[in-house]
Amino acid sequence: MISKTTSSIPDAANILGKGGLVAFPTETVYGLGADARCESAIQRIFLVKERPMQHPLIVHIGRKEEVETWAEEIPPAAWQLMDRFWPGPLTVLLKKKASVSVLLTGGQPTVGLRMPNHPIALSLLKSFGRGVAGPSANKFTKVSPTTSAAVWDELGKDIDLILEGDACQVGLESTIIDLSQFPYKILRPGHITPSDIKACLNCEIDYGTSGKVLVPGMHKIHYAPNTHTTLIDPSEVKVLVDRAIQSHSPVCFLLLDPLEYKSNATITWQYMPRHPENYARALYRTLRQLDQQGYSHIFIQTPPQGEVWQAIHDRLIKSSAPR
Ligand code: TXA
Ligand code: MG
Repeated sequence: MISKTTSSIPDAANILGKGGLVAFPTETVYGLGADARCESAIQRIFLVKERPMQHPLIVHIGRKEEVETWAEEIPPAAWQLMDRFWPGPLTVLLKKKASVSVLLTGGQPTVGLRMPNHPIALSLLKSFGRGVAGPSANKFTKVSPTTSAAVWDELGKDIDLILEGDACQVGLESTIIDLSQFPYKILRPGHITPSDIKACLNCEIDYGTSGKVLVPGMHKIHYAPNTHTTLIDPSEVKVLVDRAIQSHSPVCFLLLDPLEYKSNATITWQYMPRHPENYARALYRTLRQLDQQGYSHIFIQTPPQGEVWQAIHDRLIKSSAPR
């Protein structure tokens, strides 16, 4: 039975106003919200998530006019992207104003801003009327929650309220683009692809996580279930099956292509959707479910190449990184 949940926007905004922590749904994943101007609330986010302080938080806003209260020297490209993709799963990094706390930005000279495309998140942001710091509502390096039940399992006892919503439609975190220097650089792939951005800006963009900027890619392991996961090619399945049967260790294969094998006490087969949007929507929910099953290992078929699978590859590679 889930307690500490509400569907009341005024109650949630009220708790934010008192420096409390409120988890809220967005179209990507659930966020862990706090008043972005309240340093004690920001500190509590880092404590609850067990996240190192140098990892900046994204500020969520409900109106484009608020951009200028957080950022300065905003290039025209930023307005073009915000006009095209907001509200939506795109976070822009812009030069921060001097008044923005370095606690929020992890000491970076930039601030991340995003307007989520979710009616509950937008109502909360408009009702609160100010920026809401919102990392994903999970412990550091773990799988982001895409349902309110997952937030409850992950952080329920440590936070003040969970604003309830449906399962997240996108299912993976927003695309992050650094617009504070040229060439602009995508730091985290997401639903909005490099081609989408190039088509909007009509210029080349870089891709990568190098440099001083701290993004999840700087850590080898991220988005990880507790059960060890490995990315595999279907040609490896037979050897892995034989090995699991010999060692009597229960394993799960998370596949795209049906195989001729039958399930038995040791081996479980589970299939992911073949469409990348559906795959993304299902991924974290599936990893959380499988994490409850006591498998010694989850083997995940490497998805196809191509830009529309890029964000999925990124998350799978990081969740399967050596520990
Ligand atoms: O979809 C999303 O972006 C979700 C929902 C809740 O909006 N939020 C999210 O936040 O994924 P978080 O904190 O879990 O991931 C944001 C990443 C962090 O790893 C952080 O290092 C990076 O973005 N980031 C944020 N602001 C940054 C900045 N100013 N400079 C460099 N990296 C930044
Ligand atoms: Mg996160």
